[in-house]
Amino acid sequence: MDGSTILDGYTPVNLEVLRLDRVPGFDLYIIGAKGLVLYREKNVKFTLKNLQTLIENNVRYLYFKSTDQNRYYDYIEENLASIVEDKKVTPAKKASIIYDTSAHLAQQLINEPDSRKIVQKASKVMDTVVSFTTAGKNAYKDIIQMLPSDYYTHTHCANVATYCLALGQALGLTVNSGLWELTLGALLHDIGKSRVPNGILNKKGPLSRQEFEMVKQHVQWGVEIAGQTRSVPRESMPAIAQHHERISGKGYPFGIKDMHQFGKIVSVADTFDAITTNRPYAKARSSFEAILLLKAQTAEFDKNIINALIEVMAEKTARETMTEVAERVAKEPLQNTDVWIVATGCEEAGLVGMLGFLRRHEQELQDALILNLDSVGAGELKYVTGEGLIKAVPSDPELLMFSAEVARENPELQLAPQEYRALPTDASAALMGGYRAMSIMAFDEEGVIPNWHWETDVAENLDEENLSETEAFVDLLLKKIDQEK
Ligand SMILES: [Fe+2]
Repeated sequence: MDGSTILDGYTPVNLEVLRLDRVPGFDLYIIGAKGLVLYREKNVKFTLKNLQTLIENNVRYLYFKSTDQNRYYDYIEENLASIVEDKKVTPAKKASIIYDTSAHLAQQLINEPDSRKIVQKASKVMDTVVSFTTAGKNAYKDIIQMLPSDYYTHTHCANVATYCLALGQALGLTVNSGLWELTLGALLHDIGKSRVPNGILNKKGPLSRQEFEMVKQHVQWGVEIAGQTRSVPRESMPAIAQHHERISGKGYPFGIKDMHQFGKIVSVADTFDAITTNRPYAKARSSFEAILLLKAQTAEFDKNIINALIEVMAEKTARETMTEVAERVAKEPLQNTDVWIVATGCEEAGLVGMLGFLRRHEQELQDALILNLDSVGAGELKYVTGEGLIKAVPSDPELLMFSAEVARENPELQLAPQEYRALPTDASAALMGGYRAMSIMAFDEEGVIPNWHWETDVAENLDEENLSETEAFVDLLLKKIDQEK
């Protein structure tokens, strides 16, 4: 909600979500000349005629009283399967409804952990969620895109369920081989926290020994609560019981080494979400940083599951390598440096995008450092020492020095220098014009750009890990440049 007064206390509902010939069960309001007015009482059916009239009048949203939130979610849960199957509802809208419903359910489970009715609802809703995400390739990615970055127990449960659903699929689980059981267990994994006092859960400073012992109990309490109802199958239990165990045997409560696969999956998803969301004691880290941290703990987490996580998260990065850098810089601007992000077009167009950009901003670019991302996404990541077809023009010495430092400080990125002797890039154009530039590129073992100008140059052949490394390299390089200013 924004600060607008007439909408305070009301929540919008998109018309496409309302099912025809159903009774919503909550009053619907419409924006009138003087504010919100009652449009339909809760027991009156919503019909095709209603929908058509609203659309003709350019109405896209109706509103319900925020105090009716539980009734709204009851309605959505009841009709979730029909909404998910509705071709008129966009995939993004479906993903957002699915996520909101899961998070709301998790909230209800925490408020009333002993309510069998709610656990039953959760199992039914997860059924629809699993069929939605398995029906379309990578459908879960739409949900991952919208996971919130602030931590609450209920959103954490919904986030972990989403990651587990994605990980389970990446590891080959299907609807018939445990995916639903895993997802339901993941949604319930922290349900035992309902018995831990809020003062301890939200404490900003470090926990006392006694408090920590109490928090640790949430695992057994969770097993107890979930075990009370037949709606949670036995197969889901390891997801709850083992989410704090580690394959090293150093987890809790039992310190077992021989973990169930679901326990291993939830432990990775749980830790990943903890690192990537804002906690009272730590700021959220990027998904790439979180993966590096998990990767470094091979004794604690199963390697196959970390690889599946890279697969799941990397595609997000593939779509967003540049925009993620741009968004991060916009959110946390560098102290001393302005960053421009420019998409220029390709070499086949005669570098006109870059040449036009240089011409238009000639004055401002005199002292600028130009980083050119070219042909990344397959092969080994390199920073280019010099480039050109006939004669190599050396890259900017300061950028090379910074790159070498980043490479030394971050050996896991396996960055190396390399000269590039082939057709010009945007950096070649800048260097020849006397600007300060350097390319970041990726090459195969023979120093050739993989897939370049071959039919294999298609999106499916993008190596998402390479793109994530590119993003991390650019990020570190920008910070280094900024520090040295
Ligand atoms: Fe937990």
